[in-house]
Amino acid sequence: MATAAQEKPGRATDRIFNFGAGPAVLPLPVLEEAQRDLVSLPGVGVSILEISHRSKTFEEILEAAIADIRRLASIPSQYRVLFLQGGASLQFSMVPMNLLPADRSADYVVTGAWSKKAVKEAQKVGMVSVAGSTETEGFTRIPDQSELRLDPEACYVHITTNNTIFGTEWHREPAVGRVPLVADASSDIFSRPIEVNRYALIYAGAQKNLGPAGVTLAILREDLLERSPKDLPTMLDYNTHAQNNSLYNTPPVFAIYLVRLVAKWMLAEGGLEAIGRRNEEKAKLLYDALDGSGGFYRPHAKPGSRSNMNVTFRLPSEELEKKFLSQAVQHGFSGLKGHRSVGGIRASIYNAFPVAGAEALVGFMSDFSARNG
Ligand SMILES: Cc1ncc(COP(=O)(O)O)c(C=O)c1O
Repeated sequence: MATAAQEKPGRATDRIFNFGAGPAVLPLPVLEEAQRDLVSLPGVGVSILEISHRSKTFEEILEAAIADIRRLASIPSQYRVLFLQGGASLQFSMVPMNLLPADRSADYVVTGAWSKKAVKEAQKVGMVSVAGSTETEGFTRIPDQSELRLDPEACYVHITTNNTIFGTEWHREPAVGRVPLVADASSDIFSRPIEVNRYALIYAGAQKNLGPAGVTLAILREDLLERSPKDLPTMLDYNTHAQNNSLYNTPPVFAIYLVRLVAKWMLAEGGLEAIGRRNEEKAKLLYDALDGSGGFYRPHAKPGSRSNMNVTFRLPSEELEKKFLSQAVQHGFSGLKGHRSVGGIRASIYNAFPVAGAEALVGFMSDFSARNG
């Protein structure tokens, strides 16, 4: 039976600072708009959860989502914007199935656990060359251009733009010449201005910077569509989704609706320049606190490779880390526990995470180190 507390509707003022790595914090105005429209979309009389994906209403939502995403990232006309399912994880398979013939090779730069998973799936399809890896250094950094062994004949080069678990991020795309660059941008998509034409394909699960779990955005240069083999399962062929404007089958209607609201919010916030500046500000607050702690807090990522989305660090002992996490919860911070492969703390500060939350964490960190240092 529900308790009285559970029966009370959640209020905006009840919200705490959510440092979770994903699914992650969403902009409050987006949640409020979705809440207002959940029972009945204005002028429609049914919920977004109840409408047909073939209805004019949904068609307009889908078109608005695509148009806003195009505007946000100044996506050139020769790129298609697709909404797919199966998460970023299915892209680990779809990318090679569509772009890597069995007798050819693709270059993968391995910068963390997600890159390794991408490699594993590609190896089932064709040949993979690891063009660079920082695994022996605990994935504490992104390799330099000079360390990459790129094959000019590769079908594509695959990178993970932000390594959610380790807290490292590419701050500049690698130079790949004429070879198509494919990016898993799940955890830093639209966190700063992006030059889409440097990439052939960008994909991202929505659940960090774009919306809820359940939809994957793909931005695909049209000429890649010619590469897909003709005998691919229909749902795994990019052509199916491109030819049917992401409506071949029932798409995740609610997730796309929320992505549309998030895209509108990002534009209203001033677009990617403004969002990028705010992300820099939040990350600087946290990294300055780590660097200025006299060694109490130990950042995992090397300077130059540090992520503006996931700030990872250790404390002098696991015992202190446990204490930090339990006191953090009491201060109204959630989701700070680091991934088990790195340990320690991970503060995820995606687009919708407020500067005030980063300031509050810095204040808590400074008190905690003073009391326990
Ligand atoms: C960089 C990166 N790639 C891929 C994934 C897997 O995404 P999904 O769960 O949508 O398959 C994640 C999930 O956290 C991620 O952070």
